[in-house]
Amino acid sequence: MTIRKIGIFTAALFGAWPAATVLSQDSPFGGPEDVEYAATLWEVMTNARLAGENSIKVRPFEGSEPHGTVQEVLSTTATVDGHEGKLLVKRNHGGEGVTIQEVYDNPVEHLAAVTIMFKREEGYDPENQNWFWAKYLPSGELDVNPDGVELAGRVAKGADEGCIACHSAAGGEDLETLTSR
Ligand code: HEC
Repeated sequence: MTIRKIGIFTAALFGAWPAATVLSQDSPFGGPEDVEYAATLWEVMTNARLAGENSIKVRPFEGSEPHGTVQEVLSTTATVDGHEGKLLVKRNHGGEGVTIQEVYDNPVEHLAAVTIMFKREEGYDPENQNWFWAKYLPSGELDVNPDGVELAGRVAKGADEGCIACHSAAGGEDLETLTSR
């Protein structure tokens, strides 16, 4: 809270600084920096076996849309570019009649997407608890929205739909629904 106030105060003092901020807010997600950050994060996740072919197994459970009929969720911490933050990884499984047992036996075959929330540094997105959001395809490439914009960053800040909008409605104070389940 204090930090946010300092931010606004600084912005009022230095004319040039808000200009840069406005630029980055024009596209709250899917920009080159977001995409690069997401790629680094994927590498970190793969190395930690949180994603990729050799992912550690967690107990799958029955879920609902939009996250797939069977899901696996992991809560951990990760370090990206020297910043350590909380990382929530959700592996979304789908397909005709897919069961928990099938996903357990073969976690790769039914994988539809990997959605993540990574807690970034203070000031990244204070209005939304500084989460970095991303939706990867099983290959590690980013999924795109109907306009072809890659789903990484503050997705989709200011929009009525998308990660932030739905988690604000469904989630607790920290936009995580996991803890309240
Ligand atoms: C329409 C609502 C909705 C949208 C859109 C949505 N989510 Fe979720 N998300 C949920 C709900 C509900 C849960 C809790 C469990 C479940 O899936 O039933 C959840 C859980 C999660 C979790 C596991 C941690 C937790 O909070 O429980 C992650 C990570 C996640 N979502 C990431 C994303 C990302 C990234 C996007 C955007 C690409 C996204 N979500 C879009 C509703 C949504």
